[in-house]
Amino acid sequence: MNAPADVITDAVGTSRPRLEGPEKVSGRARYAADHPMHDLAFGVVVTSPVARGRIRDIDASAVLTMPGVLGVLDHRNAPRLDPQASGFFGPDGSMQLLQSDSIPHAGRAVALVVAQTPHEAQAAADALAVTCDAHPHDTTFTADHPAGRAALTVLGEDANVGDVDAELASSPVVVDERYFTPEEHCSAMEPHAATAWWDGGRLQAFDSNQGAFDVARTLASLFSLELDQVRVRSEHVGGGFGSKGLLGPQLILATMGSMAFGRPVRVTLTRRQVFLMIGMRPATEQRVRLGADTDGSLRAIDHQAAFEISPLAEWVENCPEGSKVLYATRAIRTRITAVPLDLTPPGPMRGPGLTPGSFALESAMDELAERLGIDPLELRLRNEPAVGPVSGLPYGSRNLAACLREGARRFGWHSRDPRPRRRREGHLLVGTGLAATAFGSSAFPSTASITAETDGSYTVRIAASDIGTGSRTALVAIAAEALRVGTERIRIRIADSDLGPAWSASGSRGTPSWAWAINEAATRLREQPHDPTRPVTVTVDTAELFTGRFVREVHAYSAIFAEVTVDPATGEVRTRRLLGMFAIGRVVNPLLARSQVIGGMIMGLGMALHEEGVRDPVSGRQVNADFAGYHIPAHADVPDIEADFVPEYEPDEPSGVKGAGEIGTVGTAAAIANAVWHATGLRHRVLPIRLDRVV
Ligand code: MOS
Repeated sequence: MNAPADVITDAVGTSRPRLEGPEKVSGRARYAADHPMHDLAFGVVVTSPVARGRIRDIDASAVLTMPGVLGVLDHRNAPRLDPQASGFFGPDGSMQLLQSDSIPHAGRAVALVVAQTPHEAQAAADALAVTCDAHPHDTTFTADHPAGRAALTVLGEDANVGDVDAELASSPVVVDERYFTPEEHCSAMEPHAATAWWDGGRLQAFDSNQGAFDVARTLASLFSLELDQVRVRSEHVGGGFGSKGLLGPQLILATMGSMAFGRPVRVTLTRRQVFLMIGMRPATEQRVRLGADTDGSLRAIDHQAAFEISPLAEWVENCPEGSKVLYATRAIRTRITAVPLDLTPPGPMRGPGLTPGSFALESAMDELAERLGIDPLELRLRNEPAVGPVSGLPYGSRNLAACLREGARRFGWHSRDPRPRRRREGHLLVGTGLAATAFGSSAFPSTASITAETDGSYTVRIAASDIGTGSRTALVAIAAEALRVGTERIRIRIADSDLGPAWSASGSRGTPSWAWAINEAATRLREQPHDPTRPVTVTVDTAELFTGRFVREVHAYSAIFAEVTVDPATGEVRTRRLLGMFAIGRVVNPLLARSQVIGGMIMGLGMALHEEGVRDPVSGRQVNADFAGYHIPAHADVPDIEADFVPEYEPDEPSGVKGAGEIGTVGTAAAIANAVWHATGLRHRVLPIRLDRVV
């Protein structure tokens, strides 16, 4: 709907399977550790056994005589790195590997053993003698920890609208509760892997990441190289979920290995190392206070969040963001506290901030509905804002109410008895719950280049990433529409840092950002007179057009509905139905978009019921750093999921699209937790809702 009037293709809005699907299912698609390479050596990472301390000695003498071993890199002989190299928010100590004898957290890389084969490298790594002095550590997160301090405000200032205290004091109904979410891990199917080599003075790499250009730029600065001395490619990536958003240890160490030994070096983290070394979602504790009139009109939202952080690198788990945009209210206050502990630095994961924040806010809204005796759906509809309650800006497309209404209709919400613990089937308790969510969506700068070839085809180049979501396929449709030709005339090249700056597949901003650059390049190409017997190329960097000023609030929206059964004898919660209605602007490819949001909803299900990084306070180590102990939903845990989209066109965004990356995950945990309350009459404010917490 509302596509440009002169569009002649059926590209955008048409379901098509992934272009690279046949390559993937036939095993021909090459991931970062799959590329055959002459003279390749293999690096295995050795990690710290203590949570804080100092390396006293690494004795490599025995290991150096083992079969195939080329050498051992540690803090005494590894290449030097620039300590100022920037991560997400400034200098990032998690990238400063093998630079000193100090150990800041359990699982920190202390050495890289390089050998001719993976097995020889692993055997040598297992045999490497590392002696450490352990120092006292603190890995126990509490919101009132004395080390807590205000978090960075780079992702948005704290809200302070109206008089929250006065409004709460004069509200006839108040909810004041605390919510806790544990450490959670991205756990992508493909572990972090990289292959690095030097080619005529140029560092080249295949790496598993979400943004080849950002990774190349960070790699260059870390190793004090010029950007044009580095090329990173990531043609196929087996999931990221945030954990591959920036330069990872696999590529830093593979690069060191290739420098030290003068040959290509491949580093693949083990599953355990992915848990221990890669940034997790930090544990959060949130206090939410809501005040309302008896008719359900919100008077105040006070959302205070604390999360754990590492002194090595800044991070913001921006939990209260949704509280600034979802509901009309007279007063809003948000605060975020960072608590430094001796941990792997946390990082982005599956809707960072918004996802744990939504669990707290949308659970609190359900509690408010209960106390008011108002249907939770109705409570949300009564508080639809006309403008952003903090920003004062008008909204772009905002079809949250349509998501709620249509979702309720399809789910059969209106026949629900609001009273808890009323519905039974045999010995099972049955309940339903819902949540409403928003996730920011707007385009950021990228570079796209399009060549009109002499055979009538077009070659599109953009350093976009396809981490399994189908962005390659989506961008072909976007380019075809922008060029007003059929998709069969589009060839696309992505995931190569040589293609120039591009937003990474993150923050639900990939497709809108890449679509912007492709649309600009296509428009200029169409307007440019040219001789069809010669190829012509137009390159556009939308950084030239980006103002960073927004005149409207643009978000994707969702309403998630869940039905659960609870066995009161065993405490087992099973999700029986999940339904998500989404407003993501124009849907580029309904088949892929549905897969994307369903995947997100399954992650939300995992958050609600299964996922929990357990840290032993004595050792400071995560004790369940594997899929035996860190549970994610198996097929048998996943019910029939219905996901669909309300018709929408976002006029402020290129091609009318909004981001779909994270909106599937954000609200699901609260919807399930609210359904568990409805089934049992018991509120679960601590995730995950384990068996032992239910009985
Ligand atoms: Mo996403 S968690 O911003 O990669």
